[in-house]
Amino acid sequence: MVRPDDIDAAVAALRAGSVIGLPTETVYGLAGDASNVGAIARIFAIKGRPATHPVIVHVADAAAARAWSRAWPPAAEALARRFWPGPLTLVLPKAAHVLPQVTGGQDTVAVRVPAHPVAQAVLEAFGGGIAAPSANRYGRVSPTSAAHVRADLGDDVALVLDGGPCDVGLESTIVDCTTDTPRVLRPGRITAEDIAAVVGMLGDATGGVPRVPGSVVSHYAPRTPVTIVAADSLRATVDRCRAAGQRVAALAPSASTMADLSLGIDAEAEAQAFGRALYSHLRTLDAAGADVILVARPPEGDAWDAIHDRLRRAAAHAAHDGA
Ligand code: TXA
Ligand code: MG
Repeated sequence: MVRPDDIDAAVAALRAGSVIGLPTETVYGLAGDASNVGAIARIFAIKGRPATHPVIVHVADAAAARAWSRAWPPAAEALARRFWPGPLTLVLPKAAHVLPQVTGGQDTVAVRVPAHPVAQAVLEAFGGGIAAPSANRYGRVSPTSAAHVRADLGDDVALVLDGGPCDVGLESTIVDCTTDTPRVLRPGRITAEDIAAVVGMLGDATGGVPRVPGSVVSHYAPRTPVTIVAADSLRATVDRCRAAGQRVAALAPSASTMADLSLGIDAEAEAQAFGRALYSHLRTLDAAGADVILVARPPEGDAWDAIHDRLRRAAAHAAHDGA
């Protein structure tokens, strides 16, 4: 899907200070040269994101990540060894050269080594750090395909590399390594349990000092209001909404509880498959023109944490639209 010419064109665009759509294994990124103030400004302008929100710097390997931080604690070393390249972002004390536009003026920087072969090829050929938030307008559902990026951003990005559908489908796990005990700031495919298994104790993420836009309640929201209901009451809730004259779209755990517009995700299927498909299904349901999207609550458990987190934010939409 992506040819060597495309990688060359992407690198040339990055060197020229342009921004591109870049596939990663988590979600597509809106990518620009992390050392170019103009490129960072373009990323924020296209996303419509407040300038105080920091972005993740993507690098080719752990050695490059160290060059963006002024301290590399043992926990960072252990996590990098275990999970990079992969869907993990580490927050570290920033190196002196890191632009304040990248960190939102904070003294910390978030770095990640993505596993997607296209992202890797671009990073290796480019050589520098690539700032890349998810390639969606601020507050909306993250893109998990090149088509999603084009649908969201249109002509605002000249080049979108099509690396196929994202394997993880949910944003990276963010771990703050600036405190004595690392803290999970954003859950993802790599679970808190996975992190704890490597670093031992985990700190409490609630007293978070660093700003994480993903922690803004209304993030990841479709335009249609989302309501989460107990799986066994989905059918009754669909009926009640319809009786009240509402058009209903539903994301259901099994065929037996599926509503007309349901896309039939099997709740018994593993959390990874659900996470991979979630954003794409939310987009499809959002486009169905319903008055409400009903989502049957998925199972509990560590592997489902990131999914519960994103669904909670999607469901907070009505109260926080436009954030
Ligand atoms: O999977 C991902 O992380 C994707 C792909 C493209 O890599 N990127 C992504 O970027 O989700 P974005 O900008 O949508 O979310 C980045 C998160 C935000 O919640 C941001 O606040 C947090 O990283 N972040 C960035 N720098 C930080 C810092 N210095 N301290 C704490 N959080 C930071
Ligand atoms: Mg995002």
